[in-house]
Amino acid sequence: MRVVILENSEQVSLRAADLICQLVSSNPQCVLGLATGGTPLGTYQELIVRHRAGQVSFAGVSTFNLDEYVGLPLGHEQSYRSFMHRHLFELADFELSRCHLPDGNAADIPTACCAYEQQIAAAGGIDLQLLGVGSDGHIAFNEPGSSLASRTRIKALTERTRHDNARFFSSLEEVPKLSMTMGVGTILEARRIVLLATGSNKAATVKALVEGPVSAQVPASALQLHPRVDVLLDRAAAADLLRADYYHEVEQIQRGLELQQQIEPVH
Ligand code: PGA
Repeated sequence: MRVVILENSEQVSLRAADLICQLVSSNPQCVLGLATGGTPLGTYQELIVRHRAGQVSFAGVSTFNLDEYVGLPLGHEQSYRSFMHRHLFELADFELSRCHLPDGNAADIPTACCAYEQQIAAAGGIDLQLLGVGSDGHIAFNEPGSSLASRTRIKALTERTRHDNARFFSSLEEVPKLSMTMGVGTILEARRIVLLATGSNKAATVKALVEGPVSAQVPASALQLHPRVDVLLDRAAAADLLRADYYHEVEQIQRGLELQQQIEPVH
């Protein structure tokens, strides 16, 4: 894991946008795994700014989102489909036929889950998966107790997640209880993973995911098993890490070497 502790959430967004733009420049037909929630919004805004400045085009890119609520009416403004259109797809030059989200309104969800896995495979797999992390340790909607080998499936949300997400709805009752989500196993197949966490309410989870044991009780800890993960943190989210000084030192050395273009990133 490459743990990068940055000054603030703006720096986290800029660094994530750098990694995505580097990939898109080197492979304009790449496959991005995308996330929703408050954390990646700054990254999406930065991608839009860079697109409008003529620095990057997403016209050849394919995307797969991590998850979607089950049971929200089509076009509901809090569906993740609406979120992605509103905050990213319609503000840059994405080809919408290549932007995929799980279909939380499918008549047959298990079949739709298998189809989603097949679509990812048919696209050649995900080159870079962007992730947030829930305050309960979830990645996508893989709540505590999720199998670390799980695939795309239907998953019940914890009360904590429903409370966390209630800020986007007019009441807690409106927050769906079910989701359709990539599994932990699906996520671990991405060739590269970039996890973002900002704010003090993520500090305990970040400590568990970076320094705790690998456990289904903290599904994000499964990322320790992946060979190429960048964990981009602001100071508040990194506050509980025991080895923060070491991560800083490694990062300084690593950045210096990369600037000289002598080595590939180490994770
Ligand atoms: P947040 O959600 O970015 O809104 O904190 C993260 C998540 O639930 O994965």
